[in-house]
Amino acid sequence: MVDSVCYLNGHFVPLSEAKISVLDRGFIFGDAVYEVIPVFDGSVFRLPEHLKRLRTSLAAAAIPDPLSMHSWTTIVGELIGLHRGHDQMIYVQVSRGVAARDHMPRPDVKPTVFLMSSPLTWLRHSDPITVVTTEDFRWGRCDIKTTSLLASVMSRMHAARLGSQETIFIRSGLVTEAAASNVFIAKSGVVKTPPLSHQILAGVTRNLLVELLDGTDPSVREEPISQIELTSADEVWLTSSSRELVPVIRIDGKPVGDGLAGPLFQRVKSIYEFYKNSRGGETE
Ligand SMILES: Cc1ncc(COP(=O)(O)O)c(C=O)c1O
Repeated sequence: MVDSVCYLNGHFVPLSEAKISVLDRGFIFGDAVYEVIPVFDGSVFRLPEHLKRLRTSLAAAAIPDPLSMHSWTTIVGELIGLHRGHDQMIYVQVSRGVAARDHMPRPDVKPTVFLMSSPLTWLRHSDPITVVTTEDFRWGRCDIKTTSLLASVMSRMHAARLGSQETIFIRSGLVTEAAASNVFIAKSGVVKTPPLSHQILAGVTRNLLVELLDGTDPSVREEPISQIELTSADEVWLTSSSRELVPVIRIDGKPVGDGLAGPLFQRVKSIYEFYKNSRGGETE
């Protein structure tokens, strides 16, 4: 296998040779934020939105943004160019940096910047999936895209043990999101997704769908969704940058609607695909 090239603190180096200190606060505390940016047919998709969210996560965590918007864009572009795959996933991580272990960060610590590219093909599919529900036991700032993902890892393992691919979280009887995706439901022709709050990540794919469907039929209502609405929905689908739109056909072992990807999913998916193919691949 040809070693891929990554970016670490100002240099492009083979991934197998990239090293960081064990004292990096990302390793010690999960004191880091990240982004996953898709590249379709060689063009980066929704880059400004991902970089904006990176900045929002950094600001919320009070980690200084180590690079200008122009530098971020240039590095992402160079990394894509160094890899031949037309469909890639650019992973970006910024940790607070390396320092003696202390919860209170020193003000002079320099952030660690890491980017890598992986092939996206193995992840891309719209094959229906089955999910389980579980109480949302994550913290109260799920809008920050932090690398502290133990709860999501545990939830994915829980889903796998039950023969499912994803977990949908329920907090106080309401749907928040899934372990690594946002949730949409359709009932009697009405499409809903939970409103933005500290309890969910502002998914770039979620926000794009809300934008694309604004003023169309169906449009999306950003409204709370109860667990009962979820389990009695005609259709349910999940969205994320790497998997795009994925229909859910069983929840906790029970079929969603007639147990197939539904007509609204197909419609919304074709609107998304049209956008992506006509003008979705942006370079800046
Ligand atoms: C918890 C969570 N929610 C939602 C999403 C979807 O966000 P996006 O569409 O920006 O990939 C992700 C993606 O990784 C996620 O981890």
